[in-house]
Amino acid sequence: MNTLDLGTTPRLGEIPDKMKAFVIRPEREGEPRDSMQIELMDVPECGPNEVLVLVMAAGINFNGVWAARGKPISVIKLHPEEPFHIAGSDASGIVWKVGSAVTNWKVGDEVVLHCNQACRQCPECNGGDPLACDAQQIWGYETNWGSFSQFCKVQSQQLLPKPKHLSWEEAASYGLTYFTAYRMLIDQAKVQAGENVLVWGASGGLGVFAVQLCRLVGANPIAVVSRDDKADLVRSLGAEHVINRNEFDLSKGPSESKRFGKKLRELTGGEDADVVFEHVGQYTFPTSVLIAKRFGRIVICGATSGYELNFDARYLWMRQKRIIGSHFANTYEASRANRLIQQGKIRPVLDEVYEFEQTGEAHQAMAENHHKGKMAIRVQAPR
Ligand SMILES: NC(=O)c1ccc[n+]([C@@H]2O[C@H](COP(=O)([O-])OP(=O)(O)OC[C@H]3O[C@@H](n4cnc5c(N)ncnc54)[C@H](OP(=O)(O)O)[C@@H]3O)[C@@H](O)[C@H]2O)c1
Repeated sequence: MNTLDLGTTPRLGEIPDKMKAFVIRPEREGEPRDSMQIELMDVPECGPNEVLVLVMAAGINFNGVWAARGKPISVIKLHPEEPFHIAGSDASGIVWKVGSAVTNWKVGDEVVLHCNQACRQCPECNGGDPLACDAQQIWGYETNWGSFSQFCKVQSQQLLPKPKHLSWEEAASYGLTYFTAYRMLIDQAKVQAGENVLVWGASGGLGVFAVQLCRLVGANPIAVVSRDDKADLVRSLGAEHVINRNEFDLSKGPSESKRFGKKLRELTGGEDADVVFEHVGQYTFPTSVLIAKRFGRIVICGATSGYELNFDARYLWMRQKRIIGSHFANTYEASRANRLIQQGKIRPVLDEVYEFEQTGEAHQAMAENHHKGKMAIRVQAPR
């Protein structure tokens, strides 16, 4: 049986029998450091429209934490015919093999991957929005051959050119969160120049890109963080107004939410938020609904602190605010957003690089909120 050493690049197109992968099994779902373990797996076969990629580096995301814990759902149950899960929805790498129907990519191309999969045959995929396709799923979360392995298998439409000025690790770090933030702000909330945008978790994976996108379109990001070093980071990305959320206990209810709103208005010259960038969920959502201005938009893609939301709906209808659900991005959005990285207008914010063997530890750090910006795992990139 031949395998590939980590940190090495074999002869172009050469495929070993087995690959190293970080695997989650049903019997060990729990905290990431225990749940994710290295195993030797078969290298996946690719179908006509699929591509096999040699993974140079992989990006850490919160969905790996959800997958490891098996909560709120056990993603392994989504594919009972293969009862294991290789997480990972971000990667940079080299095209290693292409399916028979793939014509626009070739072996040797350097790529980054986006994580939206769809059927590519239905009306939504051909003129609509592939996010509305009945077969839509997030690669590396709802599918099981993700990026924490030496090779990964993706649909050809998931490939984007790797920005040449980035290292493998930087290139692997931004796709999932940046493309999500792009859709949320640009296409869903349609943020305008001059608007005030309250960004929760501004130093986190989504937040660092939300802040940059606001600046790029001329909006004013008000960045919420929990530590001084995180405040320094978001200021370096262009946020002029920063709120430390530890000055408030939002679990106490409306009085604290109102005090938070007062702080926001002090910073904006008396304005409420035109847009609230939400992904924290239960802990922050009642405040988000309160502090959005009349006709304001609350755009939400996640719920780190809990997904059952309880808020005072009177603020919503009396002031005609809108809640907008948003989920990842389609290929067109990912491609437009990637172009901004290629042009140097948006930059990855890579805080830490871990070796492949530390994949579980890196997810644990994210689960415990020790990180800021993005983290990447070195796989075949030189050590
Ligand atoms: N639907 C989608 O397509 C999609 C895509 C990407 C992410 N998501 C989801 O969005 C969420 C955030 O993702 P991410 O990559 O940005 O995660 P992240 O890197 O962990 O950043 C989240 C930030 O939220 C803040 N936070 C954590 N708990 C909080 C609380 N109780 N109250 C206020 N702020 C809190 C933290 O910053 P401070 O401690 O400094 O405040 C943290 O930096 C996750 O739940 C993820 O699953 C969804």
